[in-house]
Amino acid sequence: MHMKSTIAIIGATGNMGSAIAKSLANGSYRLLLCANDFPTVQELAQTIKTDTPSADVEAIVCSRNASWEADIIILATPYQAEQEIAETIQEIASQKIVVSIANPVNESYSGLVTAPDTSAAEELQKRLPHSKVIKAFNTTFAADFATPVIDGKQVDAFVAGNDEEALQTVSELVKTAGFNPIVAGDLSVSRTLETMQFLLIQLTMKYNYYTLGVQGSQDTASFFNDKTVAGSLTMTSVKLSA
Ligand SMILES: NC(=O)c1ccc[n+]([C@@H]2O[C@H](COP(=O)([O-])OP(=O)(O)OC[C@H]3O[C@@H](n4cnc5c(N)ncnc54)[C@H](OP(=O)(O)O)[C@@H]3O)[C@@H](O)[C@H]2O)c1
Repeated sequence: MHMKSTIAIIGATGNMGSAIAKSLANGSYRLLLCANDFPTVQELAQTIKTDTPSADVEAIVCSRNASWEADIIILATPYQAEQEIAETIQEIASQKIVVSIANPVNESYSGLVTAPDTSAAEELQKRLPHSKVIKAFNTTFAADFATPVIDGKQVDAFVAGNDEEALQTVSELVKTAGFNPIVAGDLSVSRTLETMQFLLIQLTMKYNYYTLGVQGSQDTASFFNDKTVAGSLTMTSVKLSA
């Protein structure tokens, strides 16, 4: 009998966390949602249940509790929080798949906080030596989840990691979310994926590059984040998306 996997989404109320949660609601998963602000997590779980009555979703109080029950843990938080959470779930996450979606940009968006010979995902793997860390979703903007199919083609989403089975499991998950998963290589490829996305963020800030090139008529602000008031791209709207 096929057993449902349980997925903990830590940072579920954020741009990415909520987009991932909603996109997986139709899948054969049990979703455990968690973030700092519990009433907002409860509200999100309720919205998902209303929109998708078949969804198996619940709000849960802390990242430790959510991770305890999960087979797959998605850390949909900023890089700094990802590192802190890793400390608290280290034992619980042993042998489990942990997905890093972070782009470790600095506060001024002028560079990455990680050294060139590493990546957010590899740093996470160091903190969780007994977990199977997989990089995924860092090259898909939160707004992409609304339109994962453009001109009849699924948008590509890169996946990287060292464990074959975990790569396969996360590729399935990426597919369920609506994207075309492409296994880009082992976990060290995360350096390229994170740098690639950093370049894209910078070009979009400078030239509206991604929106003009990929999304056609959609304006940059709404592309980055549909919660952002439409208008010219500001550091704030990028901050929400980075
Ligand atoms: N936005 C994008 O388009 C995009 C694209 C690719 C990758 N990413 C990456 O995705 C990650 C999240 O980005 P985002 O734009 O979704 O950020 P966001 O909107 O600011 O959301 C962050 C989420 O993390 C939660 N959080 C923060 N610290 C936490 C902690 N210690 N324990 C539990 N939850 C915590 C927040 O909960 P509270 O609000 O309750 O504090 C919130 O739900 C970042 O690493 C970013 O680089 C973003």
